[in-house]
Amino acid sequence: MYAVKQLPEKIAGLKYRPSIEPGRSDDVDFYGEFYRPVPREFSVEDQRWLLHHLVQVPQARCIVEIGVQRNSLPDSSTGILIQHKPAHATYIGIDVEDKSHLDDPARRVFTVKADSSDRQAVFALMDRLGLPEIDFLFIDGWHSVSQCVRDWRYTDRLSAGGVVMLHDTNVHPGPVTLFDAIDEKRFEKVKYCTEGPDWGIAAITPLRPPEWR
Ligand SMILES: C[S@@+](CC[C@H](N)C(=O)[O-])C[C@H]1O[C@@H](n2cnc3c(N)ncnc32)[C@H](O)[C@@H]1O
Repeated sequence: MYAVKQLPEKIAGLKYRPSIEPGRSDDVDFYGEFYRPVPREFSVEDQRWLLHHLVQVPQARCIVEIGVQRNSLPDSSTGILIQHKPAHATYIGIDVEDKSHLDDPARRVFTVKADSSDRQAVFALMDRLGLPEIDFLFIDGWHSVSQCVRDWRYTDRLSAGGVVMLHDTNVHPGPVTLFDAIDEKRFEKVKYCTEGPDWGIAAITPLRPPEWR
């Protein structure tokens, strides 16, 4: 689908830095020619796989979502994460748009209005909340190659038993190329919802938790 160059830059957890330039831009979220009609942006099956992996980290203390609630809460990933997170876990949603209607500190729900490139803003909030690590990272913001690689760098703070999930792994350039670049010697990686009218979702889990870095 994309002609991918494998740049040698070292990024923890990746075999290479992907680039689809010069043929295409590393900053574009979506190339329309790959469009197949999708009835629902975050499908019921996507929600099912998100929940499947979320419940596998009952010890989770910190859940970070990049790209927050664009559709109604019951139709979104955000609804699943907030509704089904362990009660003791903190949800932090990052979006360039204001999603503060979701803020509910008593339920440990926080949003940050920022570009997800601004990891320091998010890490500062985590530090203020006494959360050194991310246990569940869901990447669904700007789906360009460059941005998804930057978002992957949140795994600098991924806990040993943590999980990363990516949305839009069927056609969007960032998730497609990032998924392929993830080092299978360090992570188990699996794509779901690859057929049919669905944007696709993937789960990435460290293979040998204490040593994966
Ligand atoms: C596909 S929607 C997220 C959908 C959400 N996960 C859901 O299921 O409802 C993508 C979101 O990412 C946000 N976004 C786009 N670029 C971003 C960036 N650079 N940093 C943070 N958020 C971004 C958009 O404002 C939008 O709300």
